[in-house]
Amino acid sequence: MTSITYISFTLSVYIICIIVNVKGHFLSTFASSVADFFICRSDECCGDTWIHQNFTGLTEQLNSKLYGQNLVVKSVVTHLKGHHKGNSCKALVLSFHGWPGTGKNYVARIIAENMYKKGMSSKYVKLISVTKEFPHEDKVREYKDRLREMIESGVKQCEKTMFIFDEMDKMPPGLIDTIKPYLDYYENLGGVDYRKAIFLFLSNTGGVDIAEETLNNWNEGKNREDIKLKDMEHIIQKPALNLKSGLWHSELITKHMITAYIPFLPLERKHVKECIRDGLIAGGYYKKRSEIPEFKVSEILEELTFYPEGAGIFSATGCKRVVEKIDYVMLDV
Ligand SMILES: *[C@@H]1O[C@H](CO)[C@@H](O)[C@H](O)[C@H]1NC(C)=O
Repeated sequence: MTSITYISFTLSVYIICIIVNVKGHFLSTFASSVADFFICRSDECCGDTWIHQNFTGLTEQLNSKLYGQNLVVKSVVTHLKGHHKGNSCKALVLSFHGWPGTGKNYVARIIAENMYKKGMSSKYVKLISVTKEFPHEDKVREYKDRLREMIESGVKQCEKTMFIFDEMDKMPPGLIDTIKPYLDYYENLGGVDYRKAIFLFLSNTGGVDIAEETLNNWNEGKNREDIKLKDMEHIIQKPALNLKSGLWHSELITKHMITAYIPFLPLERKHVKECIRDGLIAGGYYKKRSEIPEFKVSEILEELTFYPEGAGIFSATGCKRVVEKIDYVMLDV
């Protein structure tokens, strides 16, 4: 008799405990979603409202604001879409390669603006300037801890965090090891899932080789638009390049951690002219493109350096120094 009472007593305590727990769980989820609803209306949250993934906007902006980089547009949009569909078994890692001024930072910004409502100022977009954050090779140990903390706290806060590493080729050897686990196929590391994260690596690595190939193509009278992504990828992955660009490149290639290599071709005069027109309007010198006299565009263009010497086909600095040249020419009345 006593033992039956005891058993039924324990049993009911057990059941009550389950009920309370389940109810508590529902209540707390409910409470937190209500809280989210109100808080996330004004403050940035890690949900669809703030991470809006506007692929229409992304494609439109890349097509209308980025000049001479057909390979980039298609590749970037396709990979982001694929990753967004949710069947990604690892973090998305896009490696941007090309000379300064060819649009790497610009594309990173356009991605941020169309994927995150707050764009580059979103707390889920982390811009890491390698030369600024990790300038000294002898401090790698200290940097490793800092970098790990940056990535882990970022993804803990929001799985869909995007990390932009600018000047990746300047990363001190050894520090790259710290990033590797987060790029790999692990389901989770220490209870955190890194597979929804995006990593953009921006570097000049292979820029010279990409430019050479583009020039060869031009010399052979072929169309720039006919350059294949495959050919450029091949060039970026060339073993010889690893000797020049150091460890970061070769390590990540051999371990297959990079989802895609995105080549940025050197810009021709006609592309730079478009940047100049955009700059003239952005700078408030003209209201419409049709108002801009051609001679002004040419005058500004002549301030820039082109190569190869003599032929002067490609801009040595892409669209990078356009704004200062515009001011220089336009303010010199
Ligand atoms: C997506 O981008 C397009 C083009 O920039 C814009 O018209 C549209 O309002 C955007 N949609 C959202 C949901 O922000």
